[in-house]
Amino acid sequence: MTFVRVCGLGELEEDTPKRVELDGTPVSVVRTEGEVFAIHDICSHANVSLAEGEVDDCHIECWLHGSRFDLRSGKPDALPATRPVPVYPVKIEGDDVLVSLTQES
Ligand code: FES
Repeated sequence: MTFVRVCGLGELEEDTPKRVELDGTPVSVVRTEGEVFAIHDICSHANVSLAEGEVDDCHIECWLHGSRFDLRSGKPDALPATRPVPVYPVKIEGDDVLVSLTQES
């Protein structure tokens, strides 16, 4: 599994998603509840960025129609989205946030 640095830990504001690109893949990096998560930055319902949505209770909400995706599993807990969004493993090394595009199962 190859981890790549995407940003510094200090660049992440609590509950404010940061959109990054990793090998051309858009990823939303989210610091919340003492952890850092990485989720594919495209809603599974339509082609919009999840990074523009709100974070609450370990979920990210799509700004367009309001589906909420669990940052741990990528699963939606509300319609209209029915398919999960990929989530990616995160490692913290010092002040570096590293993400691997290998999907967690
Ligand atoms: S585009 Fe995200 S819920 Fe519809």
